[in-house]
Amino acid sequence: MRDLMALTAQPQVISLAGGLPDMTVFPPEVMAKVTAQIAAEASARALQYGPTEGLDDVREAIAQVMAAEGMTAIEPDDILVTTGGQQVIDLVCRTLVDPGDVVIAEAPTYPGAVPCFGSFEADVVQIAMDADGMRVDELEETLDRLEREGRRPKFVYTIPTFHNPAGVTMSLPRRRRLVEVARERELLVLEDNPYGLLRFEGEPLPTLYSLDGGEFVIYLGTFSKILSAGIRVGWAVAPGPVFQKLNIGKQAADLCSSSLSQLFVATYFRSGLWAEQLERFKEVYRRRRDVMLGALEEFLGPHAEWTRPQGGLFLWATLPDYIDTTDLLARALESDVAFVPGRAAYLDGRGGSSMRLNFSGVAEDDIREGVRRIGRVVREQVELYGTLTGSAAAPAERDRPDPAPQESMADVVPLPRRAGGDRARGTR
Ligand SMILES: Cc1ncc(COP(=O)(O)O)c(C=O)c1O
Repeated sequence: MRDLMALTAQPQVISLAGGLPDMTVFPPEVMAKVTAQIAAEASARALQYGPTEGLDDVREAIAQVMAAEGMTAIEPDDILVTTGGQQVIDLVCRTLVDPGDVVIAEAPTYPGAVPCFGSFEADVVQIAMDADGMRVDELEETLDRLEREGRRPKFVYTIPTFHNPAGVTMSLPRRRRLVEVARERELLVLEDNPYGLLRFEGEPLPTLYSLDGGEFVIYLGTFSKILSAGIRVGWAVAPGPVFQKLNIGKQAADLCSSSLSQLFVATYFRSGLWAEQLERFKEVYRRRRDVMLGALEEFLGPHAEWTRPQGGLFLWATLPDYIDTTDLLARALESDVAFVPGRAAYLDGRGGSSMRLNFSGVAEDDIREGVRRIGRVVREQVELYGTLTGSAAAPAERDRPDPAPQESMADVVPLPRRAGGDRARGTR
């Protein structure tokens, strides 16, 4: 992923690989006003260390954000301010995981969590997903199996809303069941929720944290996608004993998060502009998602399936099994376009024919052009396969049965296959 991000930083590359919010959507004059206000009113505080758990002002802003997602009973004292949500994943692993311990995650999972689980030598067991999010029935079977083997997972890691990378959202019945399972088995759940407020359509669903009341669910939030990724402010809310351990872990990691960044958040929130800004992000991303969905239909139509997210930043596309997206990426880069190959979201080598596509960080024309270029390299592979196997590639492709659920996300959203498989070629 690091190599990929370095390559995609080149200006000629259309990167659908990143997970970047579009910070040009944030007005520079507001940035200037907020920073001037901090300099005038709180310069010494902004330049000083702060308490490990965070400044009170920002904890109040966080309580407001959580209330906007239906978690109204949160007090500022319940909140641990962190250096991005990424630090919460690190701290939870640091606190709970010894080498060889089992951690449960979704299949696929957040690519940024993969090196974190790896660095603590967790044994990650990944649970299949479908259009309704994590298959909680499979989770229960897995927990039974692990129990028979005498192994108890340290926690279940899930991104229930607008999943990165899968783009799907866990249904309400599954949320309820997951919380029940956690209670029945006294199992901690880490709910990673950077995208919940970025909903373009459909009704909001309660967070796992609100369904559980905070007994077994550790909640991870972040300002990265609703305000700024560069300020690096996130947070955790956790059951009491876990909270204390996370706090001690954070002290060891970095003493405290940047006071300047925290004051930026607090001052900005006092201006009351954040809800308006959130609407701006949503409007831009919704349009970009629609452009991406249209381009996929046009340029990859018969050769791929993909999810249709109702919010967030990503969708997940799956190609025929014989196309390896890690190899495909090398070819795509020759055409100056990038995506995240599916394997980055698995710890067990699966995901080989899938890819994550980001629609938030790239302008609409570039999204269309990027998908067009990906479509071209995919068609080359399909034609090559047809030549090598002696089959007429496109029709064989159309007749391909759905891959086994364990193998990929292709069954997430069963998409009707179009009769006119060659239309995409005509529009090349
Ligand atoms: C699911 C998920 N969790 C955590 C993070 C970390 O975000 P940050 O550290 O910027 O808050 C991201 C970032 O993309 C993410 O997608």
